[in-house]
Order: sequence, then C-alpha cells, then structure tokens
Amino acid sequence: MTIREILHHPDERLRTKAESVSKYDGKLETLVADMFETMYAAPGIGLAATQIDVHLKVIVVDCGKQDPRPLHFINPELVRLEGIEQMEEGCLSVPGIFETVSRAESIKVRAFDKCGIQFEMEADGLLAVCIQHEIEHLEGKLFVDMLSNFKQKRIIKKLSKLNI
Ligand code: NI
Repeated sequence: MTIREILHHPDERLRTKAESVSKYDGKLETLVADMFETMYAAPGIGLAATQIDVHLKVIVVDCGKQDPRPLHFINPELVRLEGIEQMEEGCLSVPGIFETVSRAESIKVRAFDKCGIQFEMEADGLLAVCIQHEIEHLEGKLFVDMLSNFKQKRIIKKLSKLNI
C-alpha cells in the first residue's frame, strides 16, 4: 500500500469530473487500499479518488463509531435525500478550514463494492454528511463552494500562507 499525495485547494485538478469505474480488477483493489492508507495517515474520515488525482468514481469513508466500517463505494449514486442538517465540515484538500454546511439529514446511496457487487445503504448523521461530501468531490466540487464569495477568498488567502 502507498500513501498518495493529496491535492490542495485551489488546485484545478480538484475540479475534474470523475469517470465511472468499468473494470473491477487488481488495479481498483490497489486504489481502494491506497485510499484507505492515505486517509488514515492524514488523518481523515473520508477521501475521494479525485483528491489523489485519480479521476474515477471511488470514495472511502470511516467515521469511527459508525457500523459497519470502514466503507468503500464505487460509482456511488444518491438515490434518496431527506431532511436538512447543518454540520461543521472540514476537508483534507482544504486543510485547517472548518465551516458549517447544510446537507440532507438522511440518505440512501447505491454503489458497487470493489468486487463489482451492487449494494444500497441508508445513512444519517455524520456518515450521511461524509458520503455526500465525498460524492461532491467526484463531481469536481468542494464544500467551500457553498460559502459566500467573501469567505471563499479569505480561505484561499489563508491556504496560500500555509505553503503546502
Ligand atoms: Ni473533502
């Protein structure tokens, strides 16, 4: 397993729309393993392939107390969104920044596992927020996009001072 480099905002590669996975092979298995390794090393509770410059629809999540864990989703799709919840979020691609974001409170996600088996899962709370956040990465979006222009500019200024 390899720890991959995480791209940081405002890197344009984070804006790439991921393509669907079509081959469930050893390469995909390595990608998933590397993503877990990279996420735990950071440390973080979720990671999208986009963040390590791989533009395939793959996300990994481990919210700690949630069961079952850890989770990986290939070609994830939100098939149900319910309610609204506000939670403070952070992102490994936007280090040191935490902002409150509104998202659906409970979700149903449909995806495949690394062997190509389709499954559906319901989630709420932190896990639901985390899955929505990671799926957005696959669309080339970041949680800071939802903030005001003023806040977004301030965040980019802060990140440029981190020199990473
Ligand atoms: Ni993120």
